[in-house]
Amino acid sequence: MNKIDENDFANVLIAWYLTNKRDLPWRNTKDPYKIWLSEIILQQTRVAQGLPYYLAFVEKFPTIDKLALAEENEVLRLWQGLGYYNRARNLHACAKFIHHQLNNKFPRSYRELLTLKGIGPYTAAAIASFAYKEPEAVVDGNVMRVITRFFGMYDDISENSTQSKIREICNRLISTENPDLFNQAIMEFGALHCKPSQPMCGECPFAGGCIAYANQSQKELPFKRAKIKARTRFFHYLIWQQESLIYMKKRAKGDIWEGLFDLPMIETKERIDFDSLKIYINNSEIFKNYVIFRTEIPEMKHILSHQVIYAKFFLAEIKLKEQVLEEPKEEEGFYSLKEIEALPKPVLITNFLNKFLT
Ligand code: ADE
Repeated sequence: MNKIDENDFANVLIAWYLTNKRDLPWRNTKDPYKIWLSEIILQQTRVAQGLPYYLAFVEKFPTIDKLALAEENEVLRLWQGLGYYNRARNLHACAKFIHHQLNNKFPRSYRELLTLKGIGPYTAAAIASFAYKEPEAVVDGNVMRVITRFFGMYDDISENSTQSKIREICNRLISTENPDLFNQAIMEFGALHCKPSQPMCGECPFAGGCIAYANQSQKELPFKRAKIKARTRFFHYLIWQQESLIYMKKRAKGDIWEGLFDLPMIETKERIDFDSLKIYINNSEIFKNYVIFRTEIPEMKHILSHQVIYAKFFLAEIKLKEQVLEEPKEEEGFYSLKEIEALPKPVLITNFLNKFLT
């Protein structure tokens, strides 16, 4: 088996590509408009499904001005069945922008392309390399699979930092003479040879350098941490006010906001109405002495990395006198707004106070 290192990577890849590539219409053009069109169509779409749409678009709108001057309905009609319709709307808006604001001149560099709406690093690199031979590496799912396997990288590919790292590696590997071929080749190699399951390692030109192959860890790569489904929670906050002081309590151990000061709170599994909340309170050991009042404060939505919290705030009073704390304790008590400002609090509470109480 031939030993392969980084310096051979581009040549081996391009040699493989030239004998194995599919003949696809967008590979026979240098027209940035057509390349852009193909890349937008191929986002989240398989080649076999996207191909007839590409041909139909090129026939109906052979140049960017034809697309720019079309009615949005016509564009959406032609896109019908491909899904993710924002792609079509952005495509059309961008064509109009180029036609009207840029004098119908397609941007000529990676940097300029990036400034357009709907064109991110992947699409900008694809257009800049295929149309203008700019050595900017494309990074899509296929490319990430090839690179993480070859280098035995276990970084989580859903992280932006991993994608940037892979882009840097590819920018190091890319052929400066033939960046267009390199980019087409690495995507094609991922799609046809270094496949997600059953990669063709027995007949792979990279077998002599591939770390995943050496360790037989192809199935483990690329690595993606399982996505935790965001948990939806419903919080009902009680604003217990005496004079101008508000009661707050430090949250206990094992809680998302451990150590932060919070208003008394009741959590339910589902969104409930005011009457159900009153029943809930009467049946609760901790909150049974509270009397709550409907408030006009709209529900607040608070998004955390793995949780979405819907919070409602209610004015509250305490039924029984003896419930009232005589001596404020260190971890709970009545505080002025000024004192509350200095307490450590969940951002949700800070947002609420800033919006409604100050
Ligand atoms: N998927 C995205 N871009 C592609 C291209 N240029 N060729 C084949 N498949 C692709």
